[in-house]
Amino acid sequence: MDAALMDKTEDIELRLLLDAIYRKYHYDFRDYAMASVKRRMHQALEQFGCRSFSLLQDKVLHDETMLPQLLSYLTIQVSEMFRDPAYFRAIRTQVIPHLRTYPSLKVWVAGCSAGEELYSLVILFREEGLEDRTIFYATDINADALKKAEARLYSQDRIANFTRNYQLAGGKSSLSDYYSAAYGGAIFDKSLRKRVVFSDHSLATDEVFGEMQFISCRNVMIYFTRSLQDRAIGLFKDSLTNNGFLGVGSKESLRFSLHSSAFEDFDRAERIYQKRGHI
Ligand SMILES: C[S@@+](CC[C@H](N)C(=O)[O-])C[C@H]1O[C@@H](n2cnc3c(N)ncnc32)[C@H](O)[C@@H]1O
Repeated sequence: MDAALMDKTEDIELRLLLDAIYRKYHYDFRDYAMASVKRRMHQALEQFGCRSFSLLQDKVLHDETMLPQLLSYLTIQVSEMFRDPAYFRAIRTQVIPHLRTYPSLKVWVAGCSAGEELYSLVILFREEGLEDRTIFYATDINADALKKAEARLYSQDRIANFTRNYQLAGGKSSLSDYYSAAYGGAIFDKSLRKRVVFSDHSLATDEVFGEMQFISCRNVMIYFTRSLQDRAIGLFKDSLTNNGFLGVGSKESLRFSLHSSAFEDFDRAERIYQKRGHI
């Protein structure tokens, strides 16, 4: 069979597999950027010893233990504490002065992975004296990642990088004040979790979270098609209070979104937006 036709058959099978996952388990990857899904699902094929996506589909439909394993291929978990330190510096110097004027705050970290970005924000809010008036909502579709986030345990070899980022982000103390050595790694202080609500939430299928003053969603929408990005940004728009802030990180932008007129640039370089007051 010629390569183009094989490709086409494979694309059909992949679409059917994603459809099957959605219909049976309600996890919706149908609107994710296909090149990346395809690449990663090829790795899954190899791992599970399947010759085609149809054979993998058969396994997924008849063996419920397969889905959590497949999720580790379908969702990318790369993260760091204080990743892109300039983003956190901008939050500290530009966004916090506005947030300080509120008596109580709600912050949503959407696609929080194993908690690296979440705990970076909690530490920053603590250092700025805002932690006690804030509730942090940390959401993801990957149950395994959420469990890791609750456990707060990171391998020792990641700590040097976390520490460097923390300093570049304008950290006011020493990162080591927030963790202790345990189980061959570093466990972050339990107190960092006391203002956090963890929740399984999908930007593809679930609804709004109300009345946030700040939403951080970085390195998540890059895996989505334009229409799914629009859905997610619409959710953020409806979940923010007027004048609330949305940080999407340097690789993403609201520029081409259906909802771009609802926001104005707040920190252009760090892609932090403010929801317009009259919306
Ligand atoms: C590359 S990580 C980004 C982690 C962190 N935000 C950061 O920037 O370091 C992407 C995360 O988005 C999550 N994710 C993927 N699709 C999602 C969806 N539809 N709704 C919510 N989270 C999703 C993945 O499970 C993963 O934990």
